[in-house]
Amino acid sequence: MTLSARLPGVRPVLAMDNLRTLAEMAGSKPEYFGLGFIQLKVSRDERIHFYTKDIDPILDDEEIHNHRYNFTSTVLKGQLTNVVYYWKEVEDSDWELAEVSCTPNDSREPRILLPNVEKVELATFHTPAGSSYSVTDSMFHQVRWNGDLVTRLHRGPLLEEFAKVIRNKKEPYVCPFSTPMGEAKAWEWIEKITTSGTTRLPEIVY
Ligand SMILES: [Fe+2]
Repeated sequence: MTLSARLPGVRPVLAMDNLRTLAEMAGSKPEYFGLGFIQLKVSRDERIHFYTKDIDPILDDEEIHNHRYNFTSTVLKGQLTNVVYYWKEVEDSDWELAEVSCTPNDSREPRILLPNVEKVELATFHTPAGSSYSVTDSMFHQVRWNGDLVTRLHRGPLLEEFAKVIRNKKEPYVCPFSTPMGEAKAWEWIEKITTSGTTRLPEIVY
């Protein structure tokens, strides 16, 4: 039982009626990202992300990417693993630095910024429920999870027009938004993920 569930008059943040009220107040509906998570915008700057391994992803792993804004993410359920990278330009490489746009209404081919880069792994860290981490727009990362996971993300103002990825140029580019999920189905998954019995921390996978 969560702390909020034990306090009289306080609704647990992940209770379905609370999530539906937050979505209604924000005028939003849940949207599926083909990497295996559903995003619910609950205010202009806040999103709740619901991750599971039970939906077949469009992409197995997200590409190493940055964000167009700074954000802080708090894990509400489960555990998230972050791998942090930087890149440097080299003469020859299978990897490139590219700008991408991938939203439900605007998906286009990546624009190559640097044709040869080396990706350098800086750190791996794990964030369990109750802890948070912050990301700046200059930071490149990739997240992994194992089991059901819920995070609440608070973002800052938009700093860049496009996000960037460090991508293997031999792989075709796939916008993970390319197969949207219907709203009713997304709510079903949210209920499954928030009510699943994952109370212990999932096993860490390297
Ligand atoms: Fe990210």
